[in-house]
Amino acid sequence: MSLLLLINAIVVGGEVLNIPEETWNLSPEGAGGTIIDSGTTLSYFVEPAYEIIKEAFVKKVKGYPLLENFPILSPCYNVSGVEKIDLPEFEIHFADGAVWNFPVENYFISLEPEGIACLAIMGTSRSSLSIIGTYQQQNFHI
Ligand SMILES: *[C@@H]1O[C@H](CO)[C@@H](O)[C@H](O)[C@H]1NC(C)=O
Repeated sequence: MSLLLLINAIVVGGEVLNIPEETWNLSPEGAGGTIIDSGTTLSYFVEPAYEIIKEAFVKKVKGYPLLENFPILSPCYNVSGVEKIDLPEFEIHFADGAVWNFPVENYFISLEPEGIACLAIMGTSRSSLSIIGTYQQQNFHI
């Protein structure tokens, strides 16, 4: 099942990210737009949104060492020995005014026992759709 939505803004740690509005718009070719999908695990955001989201986390997370060159996901932090991981909030604001505020375990994956936490979001080309996957939907009923 999937649901087509229009994103208006992404907020990381209280900051409305400066993502060009047209990033989210539906193009005549069918690019753009965002789906909440039950068949995809991770979330995908079209460029340049993904790069801007990633940079916002890198800029705001100061408490944990960044693991450079960790495969696939980015950013990843060494959180070994940390009991309660404190990471910036992540919110999606939709064009209809709805705000989706996620608990941290929905957008950071903890890899145990390595003590690594990675942003569970990937990038995809501007010509595709953004997808909010099942990992990010955990404990929400849509
Ligand atoms: C994470 O930090 C701990 C403690 O400082 C260290 O022992 C461990 O090797 C680090 N893990 C990685 C993947 O760098």
